[in-house]
Amino acid sequence: METYLWITSVWGVYLGLAVFVLGMGWRIYQWTTTPKSRVRLGMFPKPRTKAGRFGKMLKDTFIAPHSAAIEPRMWFFAMLFHVAALAAFVGHLRILGEYPILPELLGGEHAMNNFAAYAGSIAGTLMLVGVVYWIARRTFGPYKNLSVPEDYLLLALLFGVIIMGDHLRFVYGGYIHADTYQEWFKSLLAFAPAFPEKLLVGNVGWSLGTHMLFTDLFLLYFPFSKLVHTIGSFSANLVRSE
Ligand code: HEM
Repeated sequence: METYLWITSVWGVYLGLAVFVLGMGWRIYQWTTTPKSRVRLGMFPKPRTKAGRFGKMLKDTFIAPHSAAIEPRMWFFAMLFHVAALAAFVGHLRILGEYPILPELLGGEHAMNNFAAYAGSIAGTLMLVGVVYWIARRTFGPYKNLSVPEDYLLLALLFGVIIMGDHLRFVYGGYIHADTYQEWFKSLLAFAPAFPEKLLVGNVGWSLGTHMLFTDLFLLYFPFSKLVHTIGSFSANLVRSE
Protein backbone atom coordinates (compact mmCIF):
# COMPACT_ATOMS: atom_id res chain seq x y z
CA MET A 1 0.00 0.00 0.00
CA GLU A 2 2.86 2.38 0.76
CA THR A 3 4.08 2.18 -2.87
CA TYR A 4 0.54 2.95 -4.07
CA LEU A 5 0.45 5.99 -1.76
CA TRP A 6 3.83 7.22 -3.01
CA ILE A 7 2.70 6.96 -6.65
CA THR A 8 -0.75 8.50 -6.19
CA SER A 9 -0.30 10.81 -3.23
CA VAL A 10 3.25 12.08 -3.70
CA TRP A 11 4.54 11.86 -7.29
CA GLY A 12 1.07 11.98 -8.85
CA VAL A 13 0.18 15.12 -6.89
CA TYR A 14 3.44 16.86 -7.90
CA LEU A 15 2.90 15.96 -11.56
CA GLY A 16 -0.81 16.84 -11.50
CA LEU A 17 -0.23 20.23 -9.84
CA ALA A 18 2.71 21.09 -12.16
CA VAL A 19 0.71 20.28 -15.32
CA PHE A 20 -2.33 22.11 -13.92
CA VAL A 21 -0.41 25.32 -13.09
CA LEU A 22 1.70 25.37 -16.29
CA GLY A 23 -1.26 24.30 -18.45
CA MET A 24 -3.59 26.96 -17.08
CA GLY A 25 -0.79 29.57 -17.35
CA TRP A 26 -0.36 28.62 -21.01
CA ARG A 27 -4.13 28.82 -21.58
CA ILE A 28 -4.40 32.27 -20.01
CA TYR A 29 -1.36 33.44 -22.01
CA GLN A 30 -3.08 32.24 -25.21
CA TRP A 31 -6.33 34.03 -24.34
CA THR A 32 -4.64 37.32 -23.46
CA THR A 33 -2.44 37.38 -26.58
CA THR A 34 -5.21 36.52 -29.09
CA PRO A 35 -6.07 39.69 -31.07
CA LYS A 36 -9.45 41.16 -30.12
CA SER A 37 -12.28 40.69 -32.60
CA ARG A 38 -12.99 43.89 -34.53
CA VAL A 39 -16.65 42.93 -34.58
CA ARG A 40 -18.53 43.66 -31.35
CA LEU A 41 -19.79 40.37 -29.93
CA GLY A 42 -22.06 41.83 -27.25
CA MET A 43 -25.65 40.68 -27.00
CA PHE A 44 -28.72 42.77 -26.21
CA PRO A 45 -29.45 44.11 -23.58
CA LYS A 46 -26.05 45.70 -22.98
CA PRO A 47 -25.39 47.85 -19.90
CA ARG A 48 -24.08 51.31 -20.84
CA THR A 49 -21.52 51.81 -18.08
CA LYS A 50 -18.34 49.86 -17.25
CA ALA A 51 -19.65 49.08 -13.75
CA GLY A 52 -22.91 47.83 -15.28
CA ARG A 53 -21.01 45.54 -17.63
CA PHE A 54 -18.90 44.22 -14.77
CA GLY A 55 -22.04 43.57 -12.71
CA LYS A 56 -23.67 41.76 -15.63
CA MET A 57 -20.54 39.64 -16.09
CA LEU A 58 -20.71 38.58 -12.41
CA LYS A 59 -24.44 37.84 -12.66
CA ASP A 60 -24.06 35.84 -15.90
CA THR A 61 -21.13 33.88 -14.42
CA PHE A 62 -22.44 33.12 -10.93
CA ILE A 63 -26.20 32.97 -11.48
CA ALA A 64 -26.32 32.02 -15.18
CA PRO A 65 -29.87 33.28 -15.85
CA HIS A 66 -29.64 32.23 -19.51
CA SER A 67 -29.11 28.58 -18.45
CA ALA A 68 -32.02 28.85 -15.98
CA ALA A 69 -34.28 30.02 -18.81
CA ILE A 70 -33.18 27.32 -21.28
CA GLU A 71 -32.94 24.25 -19.01
CA PRO A 72 -34.17 24.95 -15.45
CA ARG A 73 -33.60 21.44 -14.10
CA MET A 74 -30.02 21.39 -15.33
CA TRP A 75 -29.49 24.87 -13.84
CA PHE A 76 -30.79 23.66 -10.46
CA PHE A 77 -28.42 20.69 -10.32
CA ALA A 78 -25.51 22.79 -11.61
CA MET A 79 -26.10 25.36 -8.84
CA LEU A 80 -26.37 22.58 -6.26
CA PHE A 81 -23.09 21.07 -7.46
CA HIS A 82 -21.17 24.34 -7.62
CA VAL A 83 -22.30 25.61 -4.20
CA ALA A 84 -21.43 22.22 -2.65
CA ALA A 85 -18.07 22.19 -4.49
CA LEU A 86 -17.29 25.64 -3.08
CA ALA A 87 -18.11 24.40 0.44
CA ALA A 88 -15.94 21.30 -0.06
CA PHE A 89 -13.12 23.52 -1.35
CA VAL A 90 -13.32 25.70 1.77
CA GLY A 91 -13.29 22.48 3.85
CA HIS A 92 -10.22 21.17 2.01
CA LEU A 93 -8.29 24.30 3.05
CA ARG A 94 -8.14 22.71 6.51
CA ILE A 95 -5.55 20.33 5.04
CA LEU A 96 -3.22 23.33 4.79
CA GLY A 97 -3.77 24.45 8.39
CA GLU A 98 -6.47 24.82 11.03
CA TYR A 99 -8.82 27.80 10.69
CA PRO A 100 -8.17 30.63 13.11
CA ILE A 101 -10.96 31.50 15.62
CA LEU A 102 -13.53 29.00 14.24
CA PRO A 103 -12.59 26.07 16.56
CA GLU A 104 -12.79 28.39 19.62
CA LEU A 105 -16.13 29.76 18.45
CA LEU A 106 -17.52 26.25 18.05
CA GLY A 107 -16.18 25.08 21.42
CA GLY A 108 -12.86 23.34 20.76
CA GLU A 109 -11.13 20.92 18.40
CA HIS A 110 -13.68 18.13 18.94
CA ALA A 111 -16.59 20.44 18.04
CA MET A 112 -14.66 21.65 14.99
CA ASN A 113 -14.20 18.05 13.80
CA ASN A 114 -17.92 17.42 14.29
CA PHE A 115 -18.81 20.53 12.32
CA ALA A 116 -16.41 19.48 9.53
CA ALA A 117 -18.00 16.01 9.51
CA TYR A 118 -21.52 17.42 9.04
CA ALA A 119 -20.50 20.07 6.50
CA GLY A 120 -18.26 17.65 4.56
CA SER A 121 -20.94 14.93 4.50
CA ILE A 122 -23.58 17.33 3.18
CA ALA A 123 -21.24 18.88 0.58
CA GLY A 124 -19.94 15.48 -0.54
CA THR A 125 -23.46 14.05 -0.90
CA LEU A 126 -24.78 17.05 -2.85
CA MET A 127 -21.78 16.92 -5.20
CA LEU A 128 -22.47 13.25 -5.81
CA VAL A 129 -26.15 13.99 -6.55
CA GLY A 130 -25.08 16.66 -9.07
CA VAL A 131 -22.65 14.37 -10.90
CA VAL A 132 -25.08 11.42 -10.95
CA TYR A 133 -27.71 13.74 -12.46
CA TRP A 134 -25.24 14.87 -15.15
CA ILE A 135 -24.32 11.25 -15.96
CA ALA A 136 -28.01 10.27 -16.16
CA ARG A 137 -28.78 13.31 -18.35
CA ARG A 138 -26.17 12.24 -20.89
CA THR A 139 -27.00 8.53 -20.69
CA PHE A 140 -30.79 8.62 -21.07
CA GLY A 141 -32.83 11.04 -23.15
CA PRO A 142 -32.07 13.45 -25.99
CA TYR A 143 -28.71 14.75 -24.69
CA LYS A 144 -27.21 11.31 -25.36
CA ASN A 145 -27.07 12.17 -29.08
CA LEU A 146 -25.18 15.40 -28.39
CA SER A 147 -22.63 13.82 -26.05
CA VAL A 148 -19.04 13.00 -27.02
CA PRO A 149 -16.60 10.68 -25.18
CA GLU A 150 -14.92 13.68 -23.45
CA ASP A 151 -18.21 14.47 -21.68
CA TYR A 152 -18.28 10.99 -20.13
CA LEU A 153 -14.57 10.92 -19.36
CA LEU A 154 -14.82 14.13 -17.34
CA LEU A 155 -17.91 12.95 -15.48
CA ALA A 156 -16.25 9.59 -14.76
CA LEU A 157 -13.18 11.36 -13.31
CA LEU A 158 -15.36 13.65 -11.20
CA PHE A 159 -17.43 10.69 -10.03
CA GLY A 160 -14.24 8.85 -9.00
CA VAL A 161 -12.84 11.86 -7.09
CA ILE A 162 -16.12 12.46 -5.26
CA ILE A 163 -17.07 8.88 -4.43
CA MET A 164 -13.60 8.28 -2.95
CA GLY A 165 -13.68 11.62 -1.09
CA ASP A 166 -17.03 10.55 0.36
CA HIS A 167 -15.54 7.15 1.21
CA LEU A 168 -12.80 8.90 3.22
CA ARG A 169 -15.40 11.08 4.89
CA PHE A 170 -18.03 8.43 5.71
CA VAL A 171 -15.82 5.41 6.47
CA TYR A 172 -12.74 6.96 8.11
CA GLY A 173 -14.01 10.44 9.10
CA GLY A 174 -14.85 9.21 12.64
CA TYR A 175 -11.25 8.67 13.67
CA ILE A 176 -8.97 10.28 11.08
CA HIS A 177 -9.18 14.04 11.19
CA ALA A 178 -7.69 16.97 9.34
CA ASP A 179 -4.53 17.07 11.53
CA THR A 180 -3.42 13.66 10.18
CA TYR A 181 -4.05 14.63 6.54
CA GLN A 182 -2.34 17.95 7.26
CA GLU A 183 0.87 16.16 8.31
CA TRP A 184 1.03 14.38 4.96
CA PHE A 185 0.01 17.37 2.79
CA LYS A 186 2.34 19.83 4.48
CA SER A 187 5.22 17.37 4.02
CA LEU A 188 4.46 17.45 0.28
CA LEU A 189 4.55 21.25 0.24
CA ALA A 190 7.86 21.21 2.10
CA PHE A 191 9.24 18.75 -0.52
CA ALA A 192 9.94 16.27 2.27
CA PRO A 193 7.09 13.77 1.63
CA ALA A 194 6.17 11.43 4.48
CA PHE A 195 3.06 9.59 5.66
CA PRO A 196 1.94 9.62 9.29
CA GLU A 197 1.60 6.13 10.81
CA LYS A 198 -2.22 6.49 10.99
CA LEU A 199 -2.44 6.58 7.17
CA LEU A 200 -0.33 3.43 6.81
CA VAL A 201 -2.33 1.07 9.03
CA GLY A 202 -5.61 -0.52 7.93
CA ASN A 203 -7.15 0.37 4.60
CA VAL A 204 -7.42 4.15 4.80
CA GLY A 205 -4.31 4.47 2.57
CA TRP A 206 -6.10 2.66 -0.28
CA SER A 207 -9.00 5.07 0.04
CA LEU A 208 -6.82 8.21 0.20
CA GLY A 209 -4.61 6.86 -2.61
CA THR A 210 -7.61 6.31 -4.89
CA HIS A 211 -9.10 9.75 -4.06
CA MET A 212 -5.71 11.17 -5.07
CA LEU A 213 -5.37 8.94 -8.16
CA PHE A 214 -8.60 10.37 -9.58
CA THR A 215 -7.62 13.88 -8.45
CA ASP A 216 -4.21 13.55 -10.20
CA LEU A 217 -5.89 12.48 -13.46
CA PHE A 218 -8.43 15.29 -13.06
CA LEU A 219 -5.66 17.89 -12.58
CA LEU A 220 -3.65 16.49 -15.51
CA TYR A 221 -6.62 16.70 -17.83
CA PHE A 222 -8.14 19.96 -16.55
CA PRO A 223 -6.19 22.52 -18.69
CA PHE A 224 -6.96 20.56 -21.88
CA SER A 225 -10.65 20.02 -21.17
CA LYS A 226 -13.79 22.11 -21.28
CA LEU A 227 -13.33 22.66 -17.53
CA VAL A 228 -11.17 25.68 -18.41
CA HIS A 229 -14.55 27.43 -18.35
CA THR A 230 -13.89 27.85 -14.60
CA ILE A 231 -11.69 30.78 -15.62
CA GLY A 232 -12.71 31.33 -19.24
CA SER A 233 -16.37 32.01 -18.42
CA PHE A 234 -15.44 35.37 -16.84
CA SER A 235 -13.94 36.77 -20.05
CA ALA A 236 -16.54 35.06 -22.27
CA ASN A 237 -19.35 36.69 -20.26
CA LEU A 238 -17.61 40.07 -20.38
CA VAL A 239 -17.44 39.89 -24.18
CA ARG A 240 -21.21 39.16 -24.29
CA SER A 241 -21.96 42.64 -22.94
CA GLU A 242 -19.28 44.62 -24.82
C1 HEM B 1 -4.85 18.04 -3.93
C2 HEM B 1 -6.16 17.84 -3.96
C3 HEM B 1 -7.00 17.12 -2.92
C4 HEM B 1 -6.67 16.61 -1.69
C5 HEM B 1 -5.31 16.63 -0.99
C6 HEM B 1 -7.87 16.02 -1.11
C7 HEM B 1 -7.97 15.39 0.12
C8 HEM B 1 -9.14 14.98 0.73
C9 HEM B 1 -9.25 14.41 2.05
C10 HEM B 1 -8.06 14.16 2.98
C11 HEM B 1 -10.57 14.16 2.30
C12 HEM B 1 -11.16 13.57 3.58
C13 HEM B 1 -11.55 14.68 4.51
C14 HEM B 1 -11.82 14.20 5.93
O1 HEM B 1 -12.37 13.13 6.11
O2 HEM B 1 -11.45 14.95 6.84
C15 HEM B 1 -11.31 14.58 1.15
C16 HEM B 1 -12.68 14.53 1.02
C17 HEM B 1 -13.39 14.92 -0.11
N1 HEM B 1 -12.86 15.39 -1.28
FE1 HEM B 1 -10.90 15.76 -1.64
N2 HEM B 1 -8.90 16.19 -2.01
C18 HEM B 1 -8.42 16.87 -3.12
C19 HEM B 1 -9.12 17.24 -4.26
C20 HEM B 1 -10.49 17.09 -4.42
C21 HEM B 1 -11.24 17.51 -5.60
C22 HEM B 1 -10.62 18.16 -6.85
C23 HEM B 1 -12.55 17.20 -5.35
C24 HEM B 1 -13.78 17.38 -6.22
C25 HEM B 1 -13.83 17.91 -7.41
C26 HEM B 1 -12.63 16.60 -4.04
C27 HEM B 1 -13.81 16.17 -3.44
C28 HEM B 1 -13.90 15.66 -2.16
C29 HEM B 1 -15.16 15.35 -1.52
C30 HEM B 1 -16.55 15.53 -2.14
C31 HEM B 1 -14.85 14.88 -0.23
C32 HEM B 1 -15.85 14.42 0.85
C33 HEM B 1 -16.47 15.59 1.52
C34 HEM B 1 -15.48 16.38 2.37
O3 HEM B 1 -14.96 15.81 3.34
O4 HEM B 1 -15.21 17.53 1.97
N3 HEM B 1 -11.37 16.55 -3.50
N4 HEM B 1 -10.42 15.08 0.20
